[in-house]
Order: sequence, then C-alpha cells, then structure tokens
Amino acid sequence: MSDNRYIGVFDSGIGGLTVVKSIVDSMPGENIIYFGDTAHVPYGTRSERQITEYVLADVRFLRTFDIKAVVIACNTADSVAKEKVKQAYPDLPVFGVVDPASRLAAETTKNGKVGVIATNATVKTGAYEKAIHRYNADATVYMEACPLLVPLVENGRFKTGDPVIEIVLKEYLDPLVEKGIDTLVLGCTHYPLLYGTITHLYPELNVISSSDAAAAKMLGTLIQNGTCNENSEAEQSERKYFVSDDAEGVDKLARVFMGDELGGTFQQVDVE
Ligand code: DGL
Repeated sequence: MSDNRYIGVFDSGIGGLTVVKSIVDSMPGENIIYFGDTAHVPYGTRSERQITEYVLADVRFLRTFDIKAVVIACNTADSVAKEKVKQAYPDLPVFGVVDPASRLAAETTKNGKVGVIATNATVKTGAYEKAIHRYNADATVYMEACPLLVPLVENGRFKTGDPVIEIVLKEYLDPLVEKGIDTLVLGCTHYPLLYGTITHLYPELNVISSSDAAAAKMLGTLIQNGTCNENSEAEQSERKYFVSDDAEGVDKLARVFMGDELGGTFQQVDVE
C-alpha cells in the first residue's frame, strides 16, 4: 500500500528545514508541505498562551492540504503545544521532535548524564526532563537555554572554524561538559546546523540531533502503519514551502540551510 498524501511540517521559522532535510534523507519519496511562521518568529521567547495560539493557526493552515500527518518541527512548539494539537485534531497523527530525541538520549547515554540545549521557552516547560525520565528514570538532565544560538545560525554563523560561534558554544557547553555529561541533545531545530562544529569542539560527546531523531521515528511509524509513499523517487516528490512573512529573504537563507535538497521555492501566505 502506498500513501502519497503530504506530510505537513511546520516551525516558527526556517529551523524546521533541518527536519525536512532529515525526512528527505530518510524518506526521499514523501511529498511535503512546509510552513514557517516567520511573521511571529521567534517562538522561544514568547508566552505559552501566545505560542499555542500560533501553533494552532499553523496546523489549521497545513490542514487546508491533504495531509496524512503533521510534524511539529520546532522544539518550542512541541514542548508547549503538542497536546493541544492532538486534542484539536484527534484523527491526525502528530509527530514531534522532543520525544524521539529524548528517547535516543536516554537509551544511548552510558553514564546517565545528559545535557540538553534549547530555547528559553523549551527549557521553561521541563518537557525534555520529563521525556528523558520516561525512558531512563535514573538519568540526570542538565538543561541550558542558549538564546544567542538562533540569531547566530540565522546569520550564517554556524560553520566550524567561525570564531564567533565557537566562543559562544564554549560559553554554553563548557559548564555542561564540566558536569560530566556524555550525551548532548540539540533541542532546537536550528542547532543541527551546529552539529559539525559541536562534534569538532567536543569529539567525545554523543551528540543527538532532534531533527534526525524525529525523522527516524516518523519513518518507523509510517512503515508500521503502511502509510509510506512508496511510488515516487526524490526527483518526483513534491515539496511546497510557505511562510507568513518575507518569502524572498527566507528563500535565500533556506538554500544555506538545505542546499540543493530544498526542491522548491517559498511563497508568502496569510495565516489566521
Ligand atoms: N524553532 C525553534 C525551536 O526549535 C527555535 C526558534 C524559535 O525560537 O522560534 O525551538
């Protein structure tokens, strides 16, 4: 059986493209609708009430297409509003990023000390501690809010050897390493772009990308439910990209994030 309906993916902005990239890498035949709420980015500094309102509007927009599942490709939105999305759309399979990354961290840490870097809002919810403890009750979780990382990544400052990003990363990560963590979760969808720099600076760490973990979990579920799109190749798969503001600027940055794998251009839409 093959299901060629779209997978709906959304984020506060373009960080969720790291999840799209992971989906394309592991499920190249899937058709994807992406929405980035660039009129309201960042979510990570906003209140739970406001984030929930935006998230429900994001899903309403994705539901105007024939989608077979929705991926909350934003750790902040997932931490704050996943349950609300599930309540609003009980018939829709909802995938997040926090649970798969937490499970992988809980199952692969050797010394039980896990660091998680994320936005202020994600840290405040305690979602990562809860999820990691669900899979490993003995783990010690050290959360670190890293508000400087999203703006730096969005300005293209994420490459290994860039002195600015390296100084900022050390500022955030040295204290976690001093606490003895052996595993680090990249708990924000922008951070997988820092994977190379972080593993270069801390080669001994088990670094987990929430985007890769989410795509792997989704692949497993689609296979199990028999809802993969088995018919198309990557070249034939359809990817549509929408944002709520500045489609042109986003398009340029998106190419930095995804390179040739983008496979589409951004259009601006008004979402309510
Ligand atoms: N996409 C958000 C996340 O994964 C980061 C950007 C924001 O604060 O909106 O937490």
